[in-house]
Amino acid sequence: MEDLIKRARQCASEIKKYDDILIVSHIDADGLTSAAIAHISLERAGISSKVCFVKQLDKTYLNKIEEESYDLVLFTDLGSGMQDEILGRDLNAVIVDHHVPRGDNIRFHLNPHLVGFDGSDQLSGSSTTYLLSTQLGMNYDLVNLAVVGAVGDLQDSKKGRLVGLNREIMLEGVRNGFIDNQIDLRMFGKQTRPVYRMLQYSSDPIIPGITGREEGCIEFLRNLGIPLKEGEKWRRWIDLDFSEKRKIVSELVKLAIESGINASLINRLVGEVYILLSEPEGTELRDAMEFSTLLNATARYGYEEVGLKICIGDRDRSLSTARRLLAEHRKNLADGLNLVKENGIEEMENLQYFHAGKKIRETIVGIVAGMSIPLTNTEKPIIAFAKKDEGIKVSARATQNLVRKGINLAEAINRAAKEVGGVGGGHNIAAGATIPDGKEEEFLQRLNRILEKQLKSKGARL
Ligand code: C5P
Ligand code: C5P
Ligand code: ZN
Repeated sequence: MEDLIKRARQCASEIKKYDDILIVSHIDADGLTSAAIAHISLERAGISSKVCFVKQLDKTYLNKIEEESYDLVLFTDLGSGMQDEILGRDLNAVIVDHHVPRGDNIRFHLNPHLVGFDGSDQLSGSSTTYLLSTQLGMNYDLVNLAVVGAVGDLQDSKKGRLVGLNREIMLEGVRNGFIDNQIDLRMFGKQTRPVYRMLQYSSDPIIPGITGREEGCIEFLRNLGIPLKEGEKWRRWIDLDFSEKRKIVSELVKLAIESGINASLINRLVGEVYILLSEPEGTELRDAMEFSTLLNATARYGYEEVGLKICIGDRDRSLSTARRLLAEHRKNLADGLNLVKENGIEEMENLQYFHAGKKIRETIVGIVAGMSIPLTNTEKPIIAFAKKDEGIKVSARATQNLVRKGINLAEAINRAAKEVGGVGGGHNIAAGATIPDGKEEEFLQRLNRILEKQLKSKGARL
């Protein structure tokens, strides 16, 4: 951690030399919270900044910002994979990111990988930016946003809780009275949905008879003697008492075991959840998991300004717009998952894939790929294709077990994409790319061979 703090201090003193700063960030929950942390802490330090979001950093966008001649460009939650493209330009740049770095190292660069930590679970873009913010001033309250970004990037999914540096940061937030970490059901909607709906929409793991089954969920609660309503009001998870919650959890675990779901998936059912104490109870913003989904529902649909405003503190118009977008987002995810179920997944030796064409938005196809994992052969990474306006979006997801066996998707996707004239990168467990139209088959063939080599070389080392 000390090496990171030292780098954070160097980046902060560089930033303080300038005024007119452009923050460039990524269009997901982690990118939004990173940008918000940067923007708020710069403002508190008396430095003005403008925020822009991109789906992906590319040459065209870099050309554009080079022309706009800002004093300094601060890249958050992206940039580390594009250092060679940034370096040769007339740009003062600081990169604060957690993706696997590529190319010659830029001078002012804060990234866990540079000091030997894995950016897929140790630090998100938001928690890395939080480290920067603590060197810009007294910004300890921004820990809330740091945790929302980390949860949004699923950095707590491996163990069912935040680990490593993320954990140190989160626990500091607990000690300072901003966050409460509790062991609870790790389902979406505990703050906001009727319990039966929360159960119905659960997808990780998929529980037969519960997931997607309204009647099944109502029946399940009735059989346990748990009232669905209090007067006219549907009861939410937060309205239940401890013994009711315990009954539901043990019955869910029993159901999952009976239906043969494997132990590591069942373990994900209950874990650590993060309550943001400054947010009102019963709102999406109170729970880091719900907050991050709400943010994804904005930025991934072109409404990044709405998400950013919520992070910065707008609780009126932006929040109601985001709630509307959230309903659409959840429908799109459910439709996407159904499409995968109906059309099926093709298998190759070392990977499996589906092509969504235009039926799943390229900005959420990665989430759908991740949600499909429990439906698939978990021994192989899943690759998803979706049509972009120009070219094909590739999203790839693996499991922790595959990473242990030697799979590194950031590396594999980057190489396979480059070989067919595309660009890509990311993390060992989740990566993405854009490739030219019509190159999907060749890309798959090349990726299949690269993955085989990764597995063999790890096998040989063991
Ligand atoms: O670009 P960024 O780093 O913010 O995105 C990380 C992506 O990796 C997220 O879409 C997240 O869902 C995915 N991920 C995952 N499993 C993990 C860690 C991250 O699918 N264990
Ligand atoms: O878009 P998707 O959610 O599949 O992205 C997975 C991971 O790969 C993210 O961390 C994203 O930032 C990264 N990625 C990348 N280059 C791309 C596309 C995605 O580094 N061209
Ligand atoms: Zn991120």
